[in-house]
Amino acid sequence: MPPEIVTKSPEAFSESTILSPAPQIVVLLIDDQIIIGEAIRRMLASEPDVIFHYCNDAAQAIHLAEEVAPTVILQDLVMPNIDGLMLVRQFRSNPITCNIPLIVLSTKDEPKVKAEAFALGINDYLVKLPDKIELVARLRYHSRAYLNHQAQTAALTAQAQTQKLEQALQELRKTQSQLIQTEKMSSLGQMVAGVAHEINNPVNFIYGNLKHIENYIQELLDLVHLYQEEYPQPSTKIQSYIETIDLDFVAQDLPKTLSSMKIGADRIRQIVLSLRNFSRLDQAEMKRVNLHEGIDSTLLILNHRIKQGITIIKSYYDLPLVECYPAQLNQVFMNILNNAMDALLEDSGKAHKQITIQTELTNSHQVQVRIQDNGCGIPLEIKNKLFDPFFTTKPVGQGTGLGLAICYQIVEKHQGEIEIGSGPEGGAEFIIRLPVQHFS
Ligand SMILES: Nc1ncnc2c1ncn2[C@@H]1O[C@H](COP(=O)(O)OP(=O)(O)OP(=O)(O)O)[C@@H](O)[C@H]1O
Ligand SMILES: [Mg+2]
Repeated sequence: MPPEIVTKSPEAFSESTILSPAPQIVVLLIDDQIIIGEAIRRMLASEPDVIFHYCNDAAQAIHLAEEVAPTVILQDLVMPNIDGLMLVRQFRSNPITCNIPLIVLSTKDEPKVKAEAFALGINDYLVKLPDKIELVARLRYHSRAYLNHQAQTAALTAQAQTQKLEQALQELRKTQSQLIQTEKMSSLGQMVAGVAHEINNPVNFIYGNLKHIENYIQELLDLVHLYQEEYPQPSTKIQSYIETIDLDFVAQDLPKTLSSMKIGADRIRQIVLSLRNFSRLDQAEMKRVNLHEGIDSTLLILNHRIKQGITIIKSYYDLPLVECYPAQLNQVFMNILNNAMDALLEDSGKAHKQITIQTELTNSHQVQVRIQDNGCGIPLEIKNKLFDPFFTTKPVGQGTGLGLAICYQIVEKHQGEIEIGSGPEGGAEFIIRLPVQHFS
């Protein structure tokens, strides 16, 4: 006999679908006896939300189940081609059908058989032929449970996917800001290091030779004095030249001029040292450094802004050397100090603009740097957004919103913490805590 596969759509089906939004119950019956198939079809004919599929060939059951996606499967246990329990095993091991409720519809009413079927994962067991009301109730119950489970799984999957997407987006933004930062740092660092290197050599010539010039000039002046002593009556030509150049003034002023040149050259050397200190391109590895040197170098680079009317108050504790990536930490100080200066300098009406930098050893393993300003402060509602990449309150073109995000990443990389507090007169405060040493 050829396999019989029947799909029944109850007459009222389409109408009831329109009237009732209730989920459809899709039943698949596998039974070799066509008479049973027909009996069940009749029982379900008056149920508008039931779609009925029937298959009398167990060999095709899995394939048909994959195709019609039933919400509940009814299956016989005793069939000519396949053992019913084997079919249960197949349904349960197939990833597409493994969760579909399975009701055994059998002539056998033996507890042992039932127990075996339940052990294999069936959801229910009915003895042929069941009462129509009971059958429909069970089909509905199992279908709903299955549909609810499916909906929950779908919601959870969607939620997990949303979370994954959000995470990926955050990662992307972090990577993007890191890329911009690396690019900014490496080009700024390279430029600073390059300029510092180029200035370093000539300024050393000047500084090194000033000492000799000072000696030579002193010797020449001594010689002039000697001449004046040995030849007290110079010729009129020499006498007139001495008056023209005002020899006494030259002799008095020359050492002063030289000394101010020496101070100037020394200042350039200090700036060059700070620039090199700031960029520290040579130090790609962790180094133990004096944090105060980094802060001072950064302040020196920002001197043009400080000179616009900001008082810097430093309160440095006697800190131990801190193991860190120095150029990166300098970038943290730079970003925070720049923000403080932005806040102070944009308020032209403020009379006394001040930044306080305080360092401290909080315990033997941790140092703390607090940078406070008495500027406009940070409103409570934006406090938790400050470290987000691209968050800025500055006008377009003035702020990228990356400064603090970069600080956060760098401090995190140093296994430290960065916290926002409040400065004097409602200003802002940034507190950075860093471990003194890293144990890998
Ligand atoms: N000291 C401060 N006082 C007041 N607001 C501050 C201070 N520091 C940061 N902010 C606020 O935090 C925001 C984010 O700072 P962040 O340094 O990340 O970006 P930005 O300064 O706007 O731009 P840039 O990338 O150029 O640094 C600023 O736009 C500002 O609103
Ligand atoms: Mg900034």
